[in-house]
Amino acid sequence: MLINKKYYRTIWNDSKKYPSVYAIDQNLLPFKFKTFRIKSSDEIFSAIKNMNVRGAPLIGVAAAYGIYFACVEAKLKYKRVKERWNYIQKKYKYLLSARPTSVNPKWAMDKTLDAVKNICDFDELIFKALETAKMIADEDAENCRIIGETGLEILKKISLKKKGKPVSILTHCNAGWLACIDYGTAASPVYAAASLGIPLHVWVEETRPRNQGAKLTAFELGQMNIPHTIITDNAGGYVMQKGLVDIVLTGADRITARGDVCNKIGTYKTALSAYDNKIPFYVCAPVSSIDFSIRNGLNEIEIEERSNEEIIYAGEGKKRTRLTSPGSPVRNFAFDITPARLINGIITEKGITKPDKNKISKLFHI
Ligand code: MRU
Repeated sequence: MLINKKYYRTIWNDSKKYPSVYAIDQNLLPFKFKTFRIKSSDEIFSAIKNMNVRGAPLIGVAAAYGIYFACVEAKLKYKRVKERWNYIQKKYKYLLSARPTSVNPKWAMDKTLDAVKNICDFDELIFKALETAKMIADEDAENCRIIGETGLEILKKISLKKKGKPVSILTHCNAGWLACIDYGTAASPVYAAASLGIPLHVWVEETRPRNQGAKLTAFELGQMNIPHTIITDNAGGYVMQKGLVDIVLTGADRITARGDVCNKIGTYKTALSAYDNKIPFYVCAPVSSIDFSIRNGLNEIEIEERSNEEIIYAGEGKKRTRLTSPGSPVRNFAFDITPARLINGIITEKGITKPDKNKISKLFHI
């Protein structure tokens, strides 16, 4: 995607500096655009944990690079193959613990380890781990592009019905290109429609407490010159009641085999409002976000709880101010579950499916 007319991906390998990966620091956006260098598996862990890189597909790719760093470190630290593999396994578990809710880190690390598990020569193994992480990144970008083309067909139909009036989309959190490698998931159909000149307007829910909607989605839409308005999370239901929303598009961090969707906290309330107002609610996600091993989202997905400070305070350093009553307990649930019954469809790179066990398994040949 373009930032100030220059093409960027969210994360990339720089072959000139060994071993190294660069990424956009998302904690500084939209006020400052800065890239930073990552040199070890521990630095990958911190970048994921502190959300310098965030969004399910992106933390998947970052974790795959984490395995590459772990392979490099294992070779430098240990002579014996067994010790090297113990080290890599330890780092795998450590990276997995950085953010437990999204399935993408596990998926991407398993894919990387699978690609190298039978290679005996460690230099060859390191090369293959890096190539695999880069391939996962390239595939994610392409999958998101296809999700855009697929979702575009739905937006085109709404546009036809509205006879040239802007298609009004509501979204939650950031499921744009910053959450992925390029294009985004929920944002990708919006970008595809904008590039065809289809008139659009996007309602952006701010997404308390970290405000990924107000900061990141709004930044992306601004860079693309797409008309948008930031609203509080609580205003989503109201704009829907007033007939100001044609479709809701969100991303996903983990989708179960029967189509329950785990996504950023607040998605469930947004889906309930859409359901009550008969507004189509679509989830956009690559197949790598589907966890075929589980069914019941509410019982089987570990929901990340982040630091209470994200809720209690606003601002940083000397400008930090308290927002909540001192002494009152706080809990910071980072994700919630939207049951399949509230979802009209899941838009993937393999097509659109109803959130239903049989339809999902048929589409993906499971
Ligand atoms: O906590 P974050 O910012 O990593 O959460 C991001 C989201 O919930 C996105 O909506 C999700 O990862 C889908 S992304 C394309």
